Amino acid sequence: MSRRAFVGGACAVGCLAVTGCAGGGESEPEPSGPVELPAADVPVGGGVVLRPGRVVVTQPEPGVFHAFSAVCTHQNCLVSAVNQGRIVCRCHGSQFAIEDGAALVGPAQEPLAPRPVTVAGDTLTVGT
Ligand code: FES
Repeated sequence: MSRRAFVGGACAVGCLAVTGCAGGGESEPEPSGPVELPAADVPVGGGVVLRPGRVVVTQPEPGVFHAFSAVCTHQNCLVSAVNQGRIVCRCHGSQFAIEDGAALVGPAQEPLAPRPVTVAGDTLTVGT
């Protein structure tokens, strides 16, 4: 393999990796203010990722809501989903606790940043 072919191949791999991360969040619009959602949209023992607001809202126990930045503390992808009681970033596999955003599985080492969430009737308001 020529040096040029090797470099091109390495770039292709690197570009794919970067694009995968960018696809996870770089193209999402910046948050422009608080986000509202029905409390019923947040499953007990799980949560939802609100991509336009770049926040994750969780409900570890009935009526207990938490919100976190959806920007992964590893390399800034947007986290992908909440599965089996954990917030998952598919870029490199980090997992975070729905109770406090703590990094449970790396490579991320830092917790997701908390966001304020208030409950009014059946509506949640999350600060971004
Ligand atoms: S950016 Fe989330 S695990 Fe790497």
